[in-house]
Amino acid sequence: MDAMFAPSLVNSPVIPGPRPRVALLASGAGTNLAAIARAVADGELAVDLAGLVCNVAGAGALDVAARYEIPSRIISHLEYDDRASFDAAVLEALRAFDAEWVVMAGWMRLVTPAFLEALAGRVLNIHPSLLPAFRGLRAVEQALAAGVAITGCTVHLVEPEVDSGPIIAQAAVPIEDGDDAEALHARIQRAEHKLYPAAIAIAIARARETSR
Ligand code: GRF
Repeated sequence: MDAMFAPSLVNSPVIPGPRPRVALLASGAGTNLAAIARAVADGELAVDLAGLVCNVAGAGALDVAARYEIPSRIISHLEYDDRASFDAAVLEALRAFDAEWVVMAGWMRLVTPAFLEALAGRVLNIHPSLLPAFRGLRAVEQALAAGVAITGCTVHLVEPEVDSGPIIAQAAVPIEDGDDAEALHARIQRAEHKLYPAAIAIAIARARETSR
């Protein structure tokens, strides 16, 4: 069984105002990036994908960006002395993409409060658990070790504390007998791929409604 509960794109709100520009941050395979790009290409998510910043040369996310003709920049954290100077470089790239929102799609770096402040809180993240349960690394393994029957994924606004911040949307995913971390993570990712495009529309629509 896939996601037991998740907002669907069919029910996600119309985003009021001009089509928003959204930039992406990714470090890994980029399956969430692909799901978001597919939703945009299919006309289900009415945003423009302005660009990708990836901190890992050779990451799958870069291939996904190329496939969907999303401009990308590689900025390796290894080339910076500290988190502040790395975040400043990423911020500069995001500014060049002229994006209103930033979507972390498997961004494996902690960000500084200054980074979040500069982006005025318009940063989304996806985490493979039902937050506030199982924050931090290895959330899938944490759920298996805890022996829970249901876990899932959460899209939330990013705040300085790791895996905190207002929750935008969640999807519940059952843990089945015999699941190992790989099988469970694959099931959670199928839910993520449905949840994230819908959650992006929800977050942007909500922010625009409240700023009217
Ligand atoms: C996802 O499972 C997400 O929950 C976590 O990192 C993973 C990224 O996967 N934050 P992908 O690169 O989108 O395939």
